[in-house]
Amino acid sequence: MDRGLWGRWPEVLTATAFLDFVVADARTYTPDMSRGSNNQVFELIFGLLERHGFHTNEAQASIIGVTPTTITNWKTGKVKALNRGKLDEVIRRVYFLSKRRGVDLVGEPSLCPIVIEEGAGPADLERQLREKWDSVYLGHKFLYYHPAGAMAWTKMLDTGYGSSQLAKGFSTAFDIALSRRPEVGKSNLASLLRWSENKSCGVDLISLGPGDGTKEAHAIRLLIEHAGPKHRLIDWLTYTPVDVSIPLLRMASEQARNLIRDRLDKESWPHYLVRPSCSDFEDGNIGFAGHLSDNPGDRRLALFLGGTFGNLKSETRFVEHSLGRLLRRGDMLWLEVGVRQTRIEDDGLYTLSKGQLGDTQETVRRGLVEGPHRRFRASVGSPLDTRMRIIPRDGGATCEVPGSYNFVHDVDINPSGQRCSVLYSRRYDIDALRRWFADHGYETRFEHRTKDRRGRDRTAHLLLFRARVT
Ligand SMILES: C[S@@+](CC[C@H](N)C(=O)[O-])C[C@H]1O[C@@H](n2cnc3c(N)ncnc32)[C@H](O)[C@@H]1O
Repeated sequence: MDRGLWGRWPEVLTATAFLDFVVADARTYTPDMSRGSNNQVFELIFGLLERHGFHTNEAQASIIGVTPTTITNWKTGKVKALNRGKLDEVIRRVYFLSKRRGVDLVGEPSLCPIVIEEGAGPADLERQLREKWDSVYLGHKFLYYHPAGAMAWTKMLDTGYGSSQLAKGFSTAFDIALSRRPEVGKSNLASLLRWSENKSCGVDLISLGPGDGTKEAHAIRLLIEHAGPKHRLIDWLTYTPVDVSIPLLRMASEQARNLIRDRLDKESWPHYLVRPSCSDFEDGNIGFAGHLSDNPGDRRLALFLGGTFGNLKSETRFVEHSLGRLLRRGDMLWLEVGVRQTRIEDDGLYTLSKGQLGDTQETVRRGLVEGPHRRFRASVGSPLDTRMRIIPRDGGATCEVPGSYNFVHDVDINPSGQRCSVLYSRRYDIDALRRWFADHGYETRFEHRTKDRRGRDRTAHLLLFRARVT
């Protein structure tokens, strides 16, 4: 082990880490220390206040609860040490400054409030839906943000979607990738985290569109287990689930928080933080990236699971705009995508596109896909009749990655037959997808396939390493 949590200061100078440091440091404060570290303690206090935006003597005095003259005396060295009571008071106030911004430093166990980014809240999406309801492609984010859409999604997971098999497949893949001994000549997740060199790091685990967050909970459990009994390979872990669906975001966050509470002892809780962000990862500003560590020694791992990549409006724009802002060189994307079958007719969605299923699964999918337009039309008093139709498209304008095909989900938007595409579900030729990512600066470092019940490849897991900033 090359370093402990505090051994890294002041290299890691995020406001939270800095505050953690001062709180821990002040708890071990003894009168002896004050003789040697007097000025540094004051510098630490004023450094923190400046980072919180309090620059003048007056501002610092009011927030600490002393007079401006006292502040001057602390700064000029007229006062050389604080008595125990005053120091405790300063610690309490500095701690409060973070708490009032919603940073839960030692909560039980470390679940932050949901941050809603500009343009990504339920009212914003409702407004966007009203502006775009008759567009050519609406976009899949409108399926889930309403509580009824979130419920339709969880129902779909229970009806023949194969969710437990897919979650198991992810868990197996992640477990293998975290193995401390990668195959000879190959790297895997453990080596990218530098665990195979026995080095520790801080981990920013981000999930784009976690849904109910089951797979992400598996990922956190496996990270904890592989990091060892004392979790010495993880300095800290911040899990940032990102979703426009507040009901799903809550489920994903609470599932992760409960796992951390149940798997770790209390002493380890402050090292783990769940920081949910209601953000739009396709059209938004990726503001949540501002909360991640900038330290080059820490790692960002973004999970993009369950075929959501295949639902995007444009894969190119997503990689260039969203991933471009989120991942630095050396960071990683874990991607799960639907696999292209040799014959499109063998794809589960093909039968559905021919209207040959007529079962609960179809009813639930219909509810999810038709939901946004049904709700919109009900709100403006229009007739409700609408039908989902799935149109298979092999290649073409909606398939930017070579070799992919797309099941385009359309709904009627008025009685004269006008239609709107609501959801794309693409499947990929995995070799072609790897080459496409390589052209965008991402190297594939690990690959694993999950089979369906008939033994055919259903999804592929790729661990993509950002090697170049193009
Ligand atoms: C197919 S579902 C969940 C998939 C889940 N990761 C899995 O593996 O089962 C897609 C999720 O992405 C979210 N989502 C879709 N588009 C989004 C966007 N532009 N910004 C944020 N969240 C989005 C949805 O709300 C939903 O929770």
